[in-house]
Amino acid sequence: MDSRPTHSRPAWLDTAVFYEIYPQSFADANGDGIGDIDGITARLDYIQDLGCNAIWLNPCFDSPFKDAGYDVRDYRLVSPRYGTNADLIALFHEVHERGMHILLDLVPGHTSEEHAWFRRSAEADHNEYSDRYIWTDSWIAGGDGLPFIGGESPRNGTYILNFFKCQPALNYGFAHPKHAWQQPALGPDALTTADAMVDIMRFWLSRGADGFRVDMADSLVKHDDDGKPYTIRTWQYMFSKIRPEFPEVAFVSEWGRPCESLEAGFDMDFYLDWRWDGIPNGYNMLLRNVDDPLSRDGDLSYFNADSETPIASFLEQYEPQLRDAERLGGTFNFITCNHDTARIAPRLSEREIALAYCTLFAMPGTPFLYYGDEIGMRYLPLTTLEGGYVRTGSRTPMQWSAASLAGLKAGAIAHTDDETSAYLPVDPSADAPTVAESRTRDDSLWRIVHDMLHLRNETEALHARGTFTALSRGRLFAFARSSGPQRVIIAVNPSRHSERLQLPEGDFTEIFHIGDIDVSGNSLNMSLQSFAILRD
Ligand code: NOJ
Repeated sequence: MDSRPTHSRPAWLDTAVFYEIYPQSFADANGDGIGDIDGITARLDYIQDLGCNAIWLNPCFDSPFKDAGYDVRDYRLVSPRYGTNADLIALFHEVHERGMHILLDLVPGHTSEEHAWFRRSAEADHNEYSDRYIWTDSWIAGGDGLPFIGGESPRNGTYILNFFKCQPALNYGFAHPKHAWQQPALGPDALTTADAMVDIMRFWLSRGADGFRVDMADSLVKHDDDGKPYTIRTWQYMFSKIRPEFPEVAFVSEWGRPCESLEAGFDMDFYLDWRWDGIPNGYNMLLRNVDDPLSRDGDLSYFNADSETPIASFLEQYEPQLRDAERLGGTFNFITCNHDTARIAPRLSEREIALAYCTLFAMPGTPFLYYGDEIGMRYLPLTTLEGGYVRTGSRTPMQWSAASLAGLKAGAIAHTDDETSAYLPVDPSADAPTVAESRTRDDSLWRIVHDMLHLRNETEALHARGTFTALSRGRLFAFARSSGPQRVIIAVNPSRHSERLQLPEGDFTEIFHIGDIDVSGNSLNMSLQSFAILRD
């Protein structure tokens, strides 16, 4: 089977800037306390005005919501709490009317335990869904090192989990089956699962979706080898089916290793927030190199003015992965935050956040801005809701205006079946940022994000594919980006002292800055906590 991807990456990705929407919390059109699809449609002009031209929508499908919708009960049905399939199709239409694009969230590795496929697979008698999930062959068998559940169904077997208890793993097989119940990756049953997932993609793509962000894309095949060769071939198989039908659609993986994900056929991958046992990856080193999301104590993040961290250690990890992405024709993307990650406010100051986001928006790849980050919405220490745990504090309602906040504060503490309560509490502080207030101020974070995104959109060298060359690797981080004859230099000084950059040959003019900067002769002088973009 030769199923290597032969597609070329959709051209619209070169200039895409994504806005991530957590539907529960973004905009509530019908006033029942929880966000909905019509609310998103009503805010498209806002998103476009901010400078974003694409959307990643977190799962919006029918679900018991034990993992905020990542436990899908019906892939083909919009959850009634968000609206109807017709509402989502109308959203696609409105997005396209504005020249924008939208990705849905595809969860291919597991379903909810309430999905009809799983209910059928749990029956004692063999049927067409018996092998859709990974079942052992005895009620008392262990999972060969994988998490498993027993004692819950008529079937004489235990089943393997992918994430939470509510999320049984779909069967994409094992790299090297060693028990009778383990089926081979790319074998007939594994490919039947893959075909079923392709059908789900087809369902939404044929109705106007522009592609998918793919959940846990690296973990389909169990006990895969280093480098994930069997999972890669499984994706190549799926892409060989779907790409020819929809050549303009885009796929971004939750994978975190572009040398694998792009080989598998994805267009883009994320630099994920992975800080295990206190050991940061390059992305964490920038923004989130700390144990407690609310404390600056011991925070070694590069953008923390007090950290003294040089950019060199980030670059050491980042540059080889950037080169992998370039070699494989895809991109390795930065996020401001996401629904799994702690927001950086209030730990970092507004100035620190502005420097961080402007730097991320100037880097290669396609930026993803998480709703509310443009106004510096804060992480709140909340108890869990719908499987959120520590992530809950980054999922609170979008702070549109003082009036809407007051309305939400007056509601109950968390979403219950009471239709009038808000999904989650809102920021109780008197100075909680709002979109309405931020838009009135020339010096607000919203204004900086807006201006920076518009500049990026107009400047080809800053687009996804512009080249990247680091020029300074100390506390001062400077880099050149170019596309054709156009060259820009980006420099950021997050520290509390001034810094100076020796400029390469050229005739540079400043086109964007934060803080005091000055170009004289061949040097760029940067005051404390400043940022500059110069054009040659
Ligand atoms: C990653 C998603 O981003 C996260 O929110 C979810 O809980 C897990 N995958 C399981 O689907």
